[in-house]
Amino acid sequence: MLTEKEKLDALTSIGQELSQVQDLDILMEHILREARLFSNADAGSIYIKNRNRLDFKYTQNDTMQNRLTPGEKLIYNIFSIPIDCGSIAGYAALTGEILNIPDAYEISESSPFKFSRGFDEASKYRTKSILTIPLKTIKGEVMGILQIINATGNNGETQAFSEEDEKFMAHFAGIATLALDRARLTRSILLRMIQMAEMRDPKETGAHVNRVGGYAVEIFEAWAKRRDMGEKEMNKNRDMLRMAAMLHDVGKVAISDIILKKPGKFNDDEYEIMKMHTLYGARLFTENQSDFEEAAMQVALNHHERWDGRGYPGHIDINSGEPKDGFKDTSGKAIGKKGEEIPLFGRIVALADVYDALSSKRVYKEPWEENQVLDVITKESGNQFEPELVEIFLEKYNVIKSIRERYSDEDEAH
Ligand code: C2E
Ligand code: SIN
Ligand code: SIN
Ligand code: FE
Ligand code: FE
Repeated sequence: MLTEKEKLDALTSIGQELSQVQDLDILMEHILREARLFSNADAGSIYIKNRNRLDFKYTQNDTMQNRLTPGEKLIYNIFSIPIDCGSIAGYAALTGEILNIPDAYEISESSPFKFSRGFDEASKYRTKSILTIPLKTIKGEVMGILQIINATGNNGETQAFSEEDEKFMAHFAGIATLALDRARLTRSILLRMIQMAEMRDPKETGAHVNRVGGYAVEIFEAWAKRRDMGEKEMNKNRDMLRMAAMLHDVGKVAISDIILKKPGKFNDDEYEIMKMHTLYGARLFTENQSDFEEAAMQVALNHHERWDGRGYPGHIDINSGEPKDGFKDTSGKAIGKKGEEIPLFGRIVALADVYDALSSKRVYKEPWEENQVLDVITKESGNQFEPELVEIFLEKYNVIKSIRERYSDEDEAH
């Protein structure tokens, strides 16, 4: 147990530490851990509001963790609950009230909410004291719920949460709310960036960016499953990749209309200018290196590299655009990145983008026949594209095609 002084000291430093964590998942895990440490709580969860439900997003439970072998991860089913009186968390989200319950099994019949023992029964866990705090914005809007369970006393006994615990938790709730709000803001800025790129380039339609995002995620999931990537890491990467893939060509906003909208084939000079869209896009994401921004930067920069090393822009310095030291070819240009020198997300989007470009109409070309498209992709395995990704693409072709149909160009209002 922490002393009062320790608690206060920790509180000030944790605030600063947490505000430096960019990534929402990591931040929520931290918040939960620190919040539990304060009240010496055995378990805890964070629920995030998603439309009219609460998604159970993060959970920690020492007792259950201790039943596992070291290194084994706590597996819980991702579930969601309605925002209503059927659960304590649902009720807190509905009313915005803090609820401090000494024993979940002793809630009076007349109480407006219920505790469901389903989780306890399934896991042979005894939930006793529960402190439930709504994550409320300044405007009073509930964004989620922070819940900690089973405060533990000095002798290991489960006890009720104190009034002081409530005060401390309000502090953590404040940080969590700010982070969620910031994540939401980032998301809305990204969606606006995508819309701007769409307005600028007639080919860069909503349907196209959605398709490229969809194919990329499909390929990534199959790749990750082959490597037994954990569900959590996969979900996180999938969301980042979808957004990053949708922004792959955002750098085209810096290319002149005369080039961008040229109805015919490019000459060499025009093509050289167009190639700069990779660099321009990457520069938008170099400031603030969150995991997402790193992913968006990698995709914008590398989606025209080729597995055989003959792509662009190659080994360049993003800021100057000049070849990196030791990476100049005889004509003074940067040497292309090759094989796994190209980050995975770049390799994946390269394939997704070309598949979509070939099978769609462009100002400079008609859509190709399906078998021609598949022919090129197969032939380019090991040349333009990574062989394993082509293999996955063909394996998942039915799903890819269904994504193509879901976002067809005919549905677009231009
Ligand atoms: P995009 O139209 O979305 O094409 C993306 C990539 O798909 C191209 O990258 C290329 O790798 C592949 N691709 C597209 N069409 C064909 C094709 O007919 N044959 C083959 N083998 N591959 C194709 P790339 O070439 O680096 O071009 C990047 C972007 O530059 C294109 O995106 C497009 O916006 C623009 N672009 C390229 N060439 C021309 C052109 O001749 N005229 C115009 N107006 N734009 C072009
Ligand atoms: C709650 O009712 O808020 C707790 C949900 C649960 O652990 O089952
Ligand atoms: C596009 O998606 O319309 C252009 C593709 C690219 O430049 O990669
Ligand atoms: Fe591109
Ligand atoms: Fe594209």
